[in-house]
Amino acid sequence: MFVDANGLYHLYYQYNPTANVAGNQHWGHATSGDLFTWTNQQIAIFPGSAVEGVFSGSAVIDANNTSGMFPNQTNGVVAIYTINTPQRQTQDIAFSYDGGYTFKKYENNPVLSPGGTNPTQFRDPKVIWYQPTQSWVMAVAYPVDFVVGIFTSTNLIDWTPASNFSRYGLSGLQYECPNFVEIRVENATNGESNFRWAMMISINPGAPLGGSISQYLLGDFNGTHFVPDDAITRLTDFAKDNYAGQFFYGIPSDQDQISIAWASNWQYTNVVPTAGQVVGDGFRSVMTVPRGHYLKDLPRQGLTMVSYPVNLDKVIDRELAANSSLGNGTLFVDYSQVESGALYFEANITGLSGSDSLKGTFNFTALSSASGESVSGGMILPADSIVWLNRGKTNGFENPLFTDKFSYGALYNPNGDGAFRLSGIIDRSIIELFFNGGEAAATSVFFPTRPLDTLVLSARGLNETATASVAVWSLKASWMNQADSNDTVLGNVTTSGNSTLSKRSMELF
Ligand SMILES: *[C@@H]1O[C@H](CO)[C@@H](O)[C@H](O)[C@H]1NC(C)=O
Ligand SMILES: *[C@@H]1O[C@H](CO)[C@@H](O)[C@H](O)[C@H]1NC(C)=O
Ligand SMILES: *[C@@H]1O[C@H](CO)[C@@H](O)[C@H](O)[C@H]1NC(C)=O
Ligand SMILES: *[C@@H]1O[C@H](CO)[C@@H](O)[C@H](O)[C@H]1NC(C)=O
Ligand SMILES: *[C@@H]1O[C@H](CO)[C@@H](O)[C@H](O)[C@H]1NC(C)=O
Ligand SMILES: *[C@@H]1O[C@H](CO)[C@@H](O)[C@H](O)[C@H]1NC(C)=O
Ligand SMILES: *[C@@H]1O[C@H](CO)[C@@H](O)[C@H](O)[C@H]1NC(C)=O
Ligand SMILES: *[C@@H]1O[C@H](CO)[C@@H](O)[C@H](O)[C@H]1NC(C)=O
Ligand SMILES: *[C@@H]1O[C@H](CO)[C@@H](O)[C@H](O)[C@H]1NC(C)=O
Ligand SMILES: *[C@@H]1O[C@H](CO)[C@@H](O)[C@H](O)[C@H]1NC(C)=O
Ligand SMILES: *[C@@H]1O[C@H](CO)[C@@H](O)[C@H](O)[C@H]1NC(C)=O
Ligand SMILES: *[C@@H]1O[C@H](CO)[C@@H](O)[C@H](O)[C@H]1NC(C)=O
Repeated sequence: MFVDANGLYHLYYQYNPTANVAGNQHWGHATSGDLFTWTNQQIAIFPGSAVEGVFSGSAVIDANNTSGMFPNQTNGVVAIYTINTPQRQTQDIAFSYDGGYTFKKYENNPVLSPGGTNPTQFRDPKVIWYQPTQSWVMAVAYPVDFVVGIFTSTNLIDWTPASNFSRYGLSGLQYECPNFVEIRVENATNGESNFRWAMMISINPGAPLGGSISQYLLGDFNGTHFVPDDAITRLTDFAKDNYAGQFFYGIPSDQDQISIAWASNWQYTNVVPTAGQVVGDGFRSVMTVPRGHYLKDLPRQGLTMVSYPVNLDKVIDRELAANSSLGNGTLFVDYSQVESGALYFEANITGLSGSDSLKGTFNFTALSSASGESVSGGMILPADSIVWLNRGKTNGFENPLFTDKFSYGALYNPNGDGAFRLSGIIDRSIIELFFNGGEAAATSVFFPTRPLDTLVLSARGLNETATASVAVWSLKASWMNQADSNDTVLGNVTTSGNSTLSKRSMELF
């Protein structure tokens, strides 16, 4: 993912144009000015033969012609990706002269051949520009060795091994999709750096809740070595449908970095009931909403990567209901008439003044008035605050690995402003929760048999000094106005490349 000089966001994604399951990987492509309303673009990178897959990677803008491939332009894009074959995985590159829409593969690929203990296990290059040494830096996974290799290059073609970051954090059974990024520290105190580096490593399988999840370590990077500040692994999500998050290339380090992750879990992504057997019949898998990130010093936990939905104002439709002094009350919102079927809600428990005031509960329930199915969650204030989520009361998908319930425990922050906050984005088959403006986040897909159409927000047993302020908005539909009479958004029908392609469909939300 990268953002170009005009502020247009480019997202390349793992795409199988010939089946509704993973496989036959291509780089699909979509662009957006606001990170919510996307335009399907032509497939960006095709496999070179029937046995190749174009796996994950990254893209950068070679504004200074470091590669020598862009004599007369400052918007040259270089894609760096893994080519997977049954024998090996290599890192290849391709050049785009039209700002990222079409790519010409480098004639002397690969630029990196496998090392490690297994030639089929070397993938997911993430490349950044490191200003202090005027060098490109790649982080790439040796998955089964639990190693992130760091390589440097002056021209994106010749890569030199610089160091290995090995066996940190949770290993699971594989490391995948390493990402690293410099993130600003909000309100750094004297002696604290204004920036830390986050090394994000996705693991699959072997996540604590099963399957796939992403973790990150915070530390320092000097152009060749990443040195973590501590041995603590932190998770980006407390549910289990947030994997392989990637950061956009091209966002200045003094701004909040932006990531998008894949909202699913390898344990069940190929069998979820949003698609049938035929290509074009539904969709499988969605992306998370874009997340903005900064680092915040939390009680006991220390520096934590805050993840909040960025640019949400671009998709807010209208306020459906609000109550700034709900007290121990309940708010019902019928949203059956909301065209997108998608909502955003906020609930702030305010007026807290220390641990004695942490009383009561706050709950939300999004339910189907037709079937009674629901997705619910809330905050339990005593014991500081626990945030929970339950997707188990939906009946559209039965799978032993489709975990029902998730929770996260926080500490009351005496230096905060006396509040606990919960916000959520509820789409037709995915919910994303943000606690305290994103100090913790949960991403969870869910599959009711009938649409959810009623939201209930309620607080009970709050301390007499506390109240709840709640509001609910409908969200705009970002794909519906692109749909045809079959409610399908067709991608580009592409005939170039080596694959025979048919139309594809995207989720209508
Ligand atoms: C197809 O791709 C072209 C060029 O990449 C783009 O301009 C156009 O908007 C795309 N069409 C659709 C329906 O997404
Ligand atoms: C491009 O060149 C400028 C001036 O030398 C330098 O500051 C910048 O870091 C370079 N950026 C890239 C991506 O090459
Ligand atoms: C870009 O690099 C190529 C190869 O090094 C060189 O021939 C060309 O002059 C460069 N163009 C610019 C504008 O620096
Ligand atoms: C680059 O621009 C120069 C000056 O306009 C021109 O002579 C040259 O042919 C161009 N090179 C390429 C590769 O387009
Ligand atoms: C990094 O680890 C890989 C995989 O174990 C190994 O092949 C490679 O030689 C190591 N590189 C360095 C620079 O230590
Ligand atoms: C940082 O400090 C400013 C000014 O005191 C405050 O408004 C802001 O909420 C703080 N940010 C965080 C994340 O605590
Ligand atoms: C970068 O850090 C490593 C590990 O601490 C150290 O060995 C190396 O000398 C450092 N490089 C530079 C250029 O400071
Ligand atoms: C409400 O909070 C105040 C301030 O912390 C505390 O003194 C009081 O005992 C709490 N009330 C109840 C009923 O717990
Ligand atoms: C929230 O749900 C929990 C668990 O079902 C229940 O114990 C609690 O009373 C509920 N609180 C509210 C405010 O509805
Ligand atoms: C909420 O309920 C608690 C416990 O029943 C009570 O102490 C508190 O005063 C109530 N708050 C309001 C605003 O009614
Ligand atoms: C909740 O708190 C946030 C942060 O202070 C504020 O921006 C938002 O307007 C509040 N929402 C409601 C519904 O009170
Ligand atoms: C809608 O689907 C039907 C049945 O598959 C098909 O015949 C028709 O061409 C489709 N309409 C459009 C606009 O694609």
